[in-house]
Amino acid sequence: MNRDQCKTTKQEHNELLAKGKQSLMAVVTQQPLYYAPPVEEVLYNNGPIKIRKMMDTNEDCSFYAHLSTEAFTDKIVHATKESSIPKVIEFTRVTSKGRPQELYDRIFVAEYDGVRAGLCSIAYHGDKEKFPERSSDVVPDFDCCDVCGLLCLDSATTEKNVPVGYCYIEYICVDDKFRGKGIGKVLMDVVETDAKHHNCKTMYLWVVSTNRALNLYSRQGYFVTENKTCCLTCMLGVKKASRMDKPI
Ligand SMILES: CC(C)(COP(=O)(O)OP(=O)(O)OC[C@H]1O[C@@H](n2cnc3c(N)ncnc32)[C@H](O)[C@@H]1OP(=O)(O)O)[C@@H](O)C(=O)NCCC(=O)NCCS
Repeated sequence: MNRDQCKTTKQEHNELLAKGKQSLMAVVTQQPLYYAPPVEEVLYNNGPIKIRKMMDTNEDCSFYAHLSTEAFTDKIVHATKESSIPKVIEFTRVTSKGRPQELYDRIFVAEYDGVRAGLCSIAYHGDKEKFPERSSDVVPDFDCCDVCGLLCLDSATTEKNVPVGYCYIEYICVDDKFRGKGIGKVLMDVVETDAKHHNCKTMYLWVVSTNRALNLYSRQGYFVTENKTCCLTCMLGVKKASRMDKPI
């Protein structure tokens, strides 16, 4: 191509300029296709209590990491040590960010007067395979005792295979400043409704036999169907745990 062939008329030049501007505008103004901002899904809103699905935001992930660790500090300290608690919180925060939407659909956040106050996490049949752990989520400065302890704690508390038609309550926790205000009860009602939408016929959970939460579960219609005393429950620092079921 010689110099003359490279030359454009004024009209061609203007057309090219306009095209260039259009494509530049497209780059600047269009939302990136891969980013879908989290949408709040409210399931209950009455008086001071609101229940919604967890969202993939820094605030929700940080709340999730803090509360799910702090409400079960005894078990985590038993599996690791006091000084490892901040690392567990950070690990939980990192692993809860950027997960598939369906995973957040299993986690219910309670707010009290607009302040995050409680959590309930559930699992359905097949969830374990659906949401595998990410190999990138490694926190390097856990020592090997912590890693062993956390793996044992995980195997003692994770339900490997939730049967078809069952909804498993993995955990429920309310910030101690907000306990006794009915948040736990509302969370349990809301997850039960979700389980009915998933065609479940039975709710179930495991609880340490000395946990006062047994009162709440009994009032909600759960009854003990199995007692377990084994080395796995010893991993929690307790001797006896009970399974409680509720037909829905
Ligand atoms: C269990 C828990 C989620 C209940 O939430 P809540 O909003 O306080 O519950 P509600 O106000 O709806 O109901 C009150 C009931 O909660 C339970 N509860 C209250 N404080 C509790 C505590 N510190 N530990 C355990 N259960 C408690 C009791 O069953 C209480 O009923 P009771 O007064 O007749 O004993 C909450 O207390 C908590 O997070 N506890 C620590 C974590 C935990 O043990 N979770 C259960 C694991 S299986």
